[in-house]
Amino acid sequence: MFRILDPELRRALAARIRYYNEMGIYDFYRRPVSGLGGGISLSVAVDEEEIAVSEQPLEPGEEMSPRKAAAVAMPVAAENILEAIALKPEQSVSDPVKALKIIREDLGDCTRCPLHKQGRKQIVFGVGDPKAELMFVGEGPGADEDEKGEPFVGRGGQLLNNMIKAMGIEREQVYIANIVKCRPPGNRQPEREECATCSPFLMRQIAVVKPKVIVALGATAAKTLLAMNASMMQLRGRFYDFKPAGVRSNDPNWDGCKLAVTYHPAFLLRDPRQKGEAWKDLQMVMKELGMKAPKQPT
Ligand code: URA
Repeated sequence: MFRILDPELRRALAARIRYYNEMGIYDFYRRPVSGLGGGISLSVAVDEEEIAVSEQPLEPGEEMSPRKAAAVAMPVAAENILEAIALKPEQSVSDPVKALKIIREDLGDCTRCPLHKQGRKQIVFGVGDPKAELMFVGEGPGADEDEKGEPFVGRGGQLLNNMIKAMGIEREQVYIANIVKCRPPGNRQPEREECATCSPFLMRQIAVVKPKVIVALGATAAKTLLAMNASMMQLRGRFYDFKPAGVRSNDPNWDGCKLAVTYHPAFLLRDPRQKGEAWKDLQMVMKELGMKAPKQPT
């Protein structure tokens, strides 16, 4: 049986969800609990150091404690409330150029993770066709990208451009972005926390661009997007069904896309023998998109 959320609880819930969203947490799970007359109570308690998610069914007639109410308490009547609250400002905008601009403005002069004070010159947002069918996602900007404010403009970028050309298209026809938008110092790998903090913005970009296929370049991109830990060998060679976490496209006809994993161009520069394998990955993508490679691949 559905119950209507009382306004106080609704406000507490909204505030708590915004708080989690700020921390980069967008996914909440509801599990049915028996003995609640069809209701569900999911409480999320926050400790200083850890976030513990636990189910706490209310006893019949039990009052909700203030602490419980301040935490997330979600009767099943709240079926769509997470969705409503998690609506992003760009979701009411149909023009993808304007929608991406809104996301960029929302990002602002970002200080959400430590990378902002570790020598970044600028935020590297993303580039390309805002309606691209194909999207490439790398790890994070290097020195050249940090300098120019555009992803993949260094040596790795030139190789990526050649890979795109070999597919018979131009760089301008795809959308290119990274998991983190600020350069990690010394080109170190971005930390998990940095990826978790930054990737919600990428998820929003993906929901706006609505690609048919995403190619994750390298392990960091693949593992972050797929939220799984596996080796490149395990990750490559197949498609995954992908939906951007924590955000919905405003297009009801776009229900996610395919995601393929290939080697990062920087890795291919270090080990060019793997280029053939990367080409196999791209051919799989081309087949999915109904693309034909030019007769003489670059
Ligand atoms: N490597 C990446 O992962 N992204 C860039 O934009 C450049 C290099």
